[in-house]
Amino acid sequence: MQVIKYAFQQHGDDRGMLVALEEYKDIPFEIKRVYYMYDTKKNVHRGFHAHKSLEQILICIHGSCKVLLDNGTEKKIVSLEKPYEGLYIANNMWREMYDFSEDAVLMVLASEYYKEEDYIRDYNEFLRMVGVEK
Ligand code: TYD
Repeated sequence: MQVIKYAFQQHGDDRGMLVALEEYKDIPFEIKRVYYMYDTKKNVHRGFHAHKSLEQILICIHGSCKVLLDNGTEKKIVSLEKPYEGLYIANNMWREMYDFSEDAVLMVLASEYYKEEDYIRDYNEFLRMVGVEK
């Protein structure tokens, strides 16, 4: 299973750092939605779903967290701890986010508007969808 983690270009000078993200250039899809999680309580795990068609890029713009990716046959854990790192998550990928630092702000760039019908929240249904019988 391939994990696609971007290192975005950092524009730094003696004032500090800046990252700019443009759709189709730095981000491989049209950005239709941006959302972010913050004040995540200790020991909380979020996510627990896959998407039928949505693609996303996760950026921990402050603090750190971990993301478990699961394609049905293989699992990978990715740490996000730099504001210039972006984790690409394709469709048909189960994800769980956890180990949020107290100051974590996890921003998500999404290729589609919010649509509950695009979610797969049942793990066995996810396994069936990716062709792993259950
Ligand atoms: P939820 O899907 O539970 O987040 P997680 O990815 O951690 O599973 O979303 C929490 C709430 O926010 C839920 O009531 C739906 C709402 N929400 C929106 O209204 N728009 C969005 O784009 C997202 C991601 C969530």
